[in-house]
Amino acid sequence: MPDYLTGFGNHFATEAVPGALPVGRNSPQRPAFGLYAEQVSGTAFTAPRGDNRRSWLYRLRPSGDHGAYRPYAGAPGFAVDGWGAPLAPNRFRWSPLADTADAADLIDGMTTMATSCDPAALGGVTVHIYRAARDMSVRAFCNADAEMLFVPQQGRLRLFTELGVLDVAPGEIALIPRGIRFRAELPDGAARGYIGENHGQPFRLPELGPIGSNGLAAPRDFLTPVAAFEDRDEAFDLIQKFRGCPWVTELDHSPIDVVAWHGNYAPWKYDLARFNTIGTVSFDHPDPSIFTVVTAPSDTPGTANCDFVIFPPRWMVGEDTFRPPWFHRNMMSECMGLIHGSYDAKADGFAPGALSIHNLMTSHGPDVATWCAASKADLAPEKIDGTMAFMFESRWPFVPTGRALMLPEMQAEYDACWRGFPKATLP
Ligand SMILES: [Fe+2]
Repeated sequence: MPDYLTGFGNHFATEAVPGALPVGRNSPQRPAFGLYAEQVSGTAFTAPRGDNRRSWLYRLRPSGDHGAYRPYAGAPGFAVDGWGAPLAPNRFRWSPLADTADAADLIDGMTTMATSCDPAALGGVTVHIYRAARDMSVRAFCNADAEMLFVPQQGRLRLFTELGVLDVAPGEIALIPRGIRFRAELPDGAARGYIGENHGQPFRLPELGPIGSNGLAAPRDFLTPVAAFEDRDEAFDLIQKFRGCPWVTELDHSPIDVVAWHGNYAPWKYDLARFNTIGTVSFDHPDPSIFTVVTAPSDTPGTANCDFVIFPPRWMVGEDTFRPPWFHRNMMSECMGLIHGSYDAKADGFAPGALSIHNLMTSHGPDVATWCAASKADLAPEKIDGTMAFMFESRWPFVPTGRALMLPEMQAEYDACWRGFPKATLP
């Protein structure tokens, strides 16, 4: 099992070999053992101190030791399109995607479902579903476009990153920062899940306001790997995503060769079961923003480039309250998935592994069956249990890719779940 450091946004210091980490200076003329010092910055050098993210890496070879990149054709589903094309203001939903015929690894098994902006614009969100059946043994990947939030739905991922190893199981999430190289193995065999690419400012913990100094996700529950490296002199493919497309170059060694590092730009993972869920103890229920795990702000206060929100097990106690999510139209756009169990706003059609998109100002909420049941329910305290839905919420509308719109799993009749509500009867 990998070892972890705890805390969110901490300035960590870790070395896999004693003496590898310089003390007192970041770039000594001669680092220990002939290691190469490299700073990797996740924010501009001049970002305010509280937002500034950077780490110093001490590695076997400089990361610049590679040839030219060329287009990578091995992952045809891993590409964005259509962000500028006309899009009907429809609601979209896909059933869980069928297993792929080929035993693809994490990268080749990626299907880009939706995006919100030109990836060169450094804003917006792109959502993928991965279906992996093979380890990335001599291949590594890095993403210049975005940090990647992994939401496993079936099977663990073991992520060998430049900064250490993360084991991530369904029910946990993991973040790989922009530009950090990694490869993925599958300890349980085939694995599938969701990935949210956050093209904007890095995720952080939300402000707590009147909630106070505790609640929601606690900093101490975020786990960052200790330094770990591969000393492998063999042919490696390095795939890099840049401006929405994958590119590849070759190395003669594993790029995951960082022996020691320090800083606050690092991968992390988080167990969603640790989330301290907060809700009403009187009537009504708060807006779903109360379930925000991490948030990536935009330039407009309170209007996120991306919020990652969960719908976890919780007690429902509101008096005289319609307890499922109510009917709503939002300024923000929503892309939802389900890790396990069932989601309390939908009676059926939204199975684990499914995906839905409700863009800004599209009417949505409970389907007819859910509304009928909840309107007549006995309002005793009730525990919603055995479920974990989540949402990428963004100020930018999600545009399904052309590939997603052609998938046989797309539910052409999604609108029908809101058909057949009885008309209100006036006195
Ligand atoms: Fe919604």
